[in-house]
Amino acid sequence: MGENGSFFLPEAASSFAGEVDALFNFVLVVSAILFVAVVGTMIYFVIRYRRRSHSFVPVPEKEGKMLEVVSIVFPTILVLILFTWGFQVFITLSTAPPDSYEITVRGKQWFWEFEYPNGVVTANEMYVPLNRPIRLKMSADDVLHSFYVPAFRVKHDVIPNRYTTVWFEATSVGEYRIYCTEYCGTLHSAMLGTVHVVTEAEFDAWLQSQNQDLPPIELGEKTFTQYSCNACHAIDGNRLVGPPLNGLFGTTRILADGSTVAVDDSYLKESIINPNAKVVEGFAPGLMPASLAASLTARQIDGLVEYIKSLE
Ligand code: CUA
Repeated sequence: MGENGSFFLPEAASSFAGEVDALFNFVLVVSAILFVAVVGTMIYFVIRYRRRSHSFVPVPEKEGKMLEVVSIVFPTILVLILFTWGFQVFITLSTAPPDSYEITVRGKQWFWEFEYPNGVVTANEMYVPLNRPIRLKMSADDVLHSFYVPAFRVKHDVIPNRYTTVWFEATSVGEYRIYCTEYCGTLHSAMLGTVHVVTEAEFDAWLQSQNQDLPPIELGEKTFTQYSCNACHAIDGNRLVGPPLNGLFGTTRILADGSTVAVDDSYLKESIINPNAKVVEGFAPGLMPASLAASLTARQIDGLVEYIKSLE
């Protein structure tokens, strides 16, 4: 993981790390050349034009037009190149691809919390799939922190009451250190985390396994609030946008087309996966997003069914 410092840049493990490094190296090389040229010329002049006798009085130099033009035009071109190049890299770094996988990051004294779209929450350990753009939506719970993964060339302040974002696409499997680079109190230097870059299949397996310890009903209840099901479905018998869910299991419902359906496990599951298949009479179709089930794991769907069954 490169715990020890090095003269060279850290391992480059994200899709745009090469671009960042190229720009950095360009600035480094140009600066080195200019430094040697300026200091070299200075030393040469000090020796070449030193005062050789006490009676020597220097003759004022005439201005050199050519020299002035060159010393204006050359730095201007150089600065414009740096600006254009830097701006392009900046745009790349600040524009996450639209299909990015989003992970919520919270900076806290003194650890990092990561929350995945399916509700899995981890501390200091971030798992991401290889070769897939990841967008981090970050905020702090207390004071300023700064999220930094050197191997990805990703760094951004994490601020209370505001979201900041970074994105990256990891290009090699491995473990990479996360640092906090904004002084945030006593254990600032211990606010370390690890990004585990794994294959897509390993990532899915890991994500599934994280909710494994919850019993189905509890997992269902957690999912129910995490996905804001409760915004449309009351569990106290009230009618919201969608039908209330308590006391539902085992009843028979009348559908919009006049037919009836028995509310059993299969009906509940179907209504989660394909909400418009059997819409209950008196409720508008198409309001519940059919895309919802795609972001749920099979266990979460089973958990929701068990949870709805348990509501009286
Ligand atoms: Cu968090 Cu320094």
